[in-house]
Amino acid sequence: MEPLPQRYRQLFPTVRTHTMLASCSQSALAEPVSRAIKDYHDSLLLMGTNWNEAIEKTESARNEFAKLIGAEPDEIAIVPSVSDALVSVASSLSGFRKKHVVYTEMDFPAVSHVWQAQSDYTVSVIPTIDRGLHPKQYEKDITDETVLTCVPHVHYRDGFVQDVKAIAEMSKKKGSLLFVDAYQSAGHIPIDVKEWGADMLAAGTRKYLLGIPGMAFLYVRKELADALKPKSSAWFGRGGFDAAYATGARRFQTGTPAFISVYAAASALSLLNHIGVSRIRDHVKTICADACQYAADKGLQLAAAPAGDQPGMVAIRDERASETAALLKKKKVICAPRDSLIRLAPHFYNTKDELRHAIDEIAAVFSAR
Ligand SMILES: Cc1ncc(COP(=O)(O)O)c(C=O)c1O
Repeated sequence: MEPLPQRYRQLFPTVRTHTMLASCSQSALAEPVSRAIKDYHDSLLLMGTNWNEAIEKTESARNEFAKLIGAEPDEIAIVPSVSDALVSVASSLSGFRKKHVVYTEMDFPAVSHVWQAQSDYTVSVIPTIDRGLHPKQYEKDITDETVLTCVPHVHYRDGFVQDVKAIAEMSKKKGSLLFVDAYQSAGHIPIDVKEWGADMLAAGTRKYLLGIPGMAFLYVRKELADALKPKSSAWFGRGGFDAAYATGARRFQTGTPAFISVYAAASALSLLNHIGVSRIRDHVKTICADACQYAADKGLQLAAAPAGDQPGMVAIRDERASETAALLKKKKVICAPRDSLIRLAPHFYNTKDELRHAIDEIAAVFSAR
């Protein structure tokens, strides 16, 4: 089978001039996605209204995301961001007697922001050890009093991949619901919510899902969704103007979605499902393993030892990461710095040589210091 970059690179104009390695923040824009954005714009410009088409696109984005994670469309809500998804989830738990929530040091800060604002809850934060987290570490903190456990599938700083299935089994045993933040994995690492036994999962569209900001998806297991009454819910979360909660995860929706982002997402997700996330994972894994070795051979320090599941990014230690990223940008190498790490986050359109080129440029910056 033809390698993925050769087959699909021509869809991404930016990669002709830039080394695009920032999928953990914003991936390159594909031509079909760009056309979808333009379609939304043109329908307003040339036809004046596009409400029905926009609603259809919303359903098609929902269907594609459901397919991507092994869920049913009724189990997917369209929300403005991952942060909003978690706020809606928090607003739906007041009916439970239990008021203890667990999350991890590996979670994106928005998770702790949401729970710090919920004064009714006590929280436990599971620390990382050697930059990783073993499922066993959850055993002590998830108790019979835990209503919800929040875990990231992939660490946003260094790409560490968690064993969500093992964590889900443990949280179920203790009677806790499980919320998975899949923003750093959806689109390049396979997800099967049913196989995992996850209760809820969220992912936004601008990273590996190839879309733009303004929307995210929230999965809520059907039977669970029907039993919850989110306080953060409004007319897009109802069956009609006067009706009560919609069935399934739709009840977690509030107002009109950012349709322009919806158009982009529907097109991007259809491309991803067409290619298949397992193929993408195989490719990204292979080029990242090569890049980790290449960087280590050059004496660069990697953030996480590539033990366990191979991370889908290469995170290089650098106390001046932002400054380095700005210098790389001048050389048309686009990456995403975070704290004291330079993150090189490829997708299916990237090649092994592009990662090596970025590493060469980083090594050149270091040796010029
Ligand atoms: C893992 C993870 N979760 C959540 C967020 C926040 O997403 P949003 O801005 O959609 O709330 C980010 C943003 O970078 C992230 O990387």
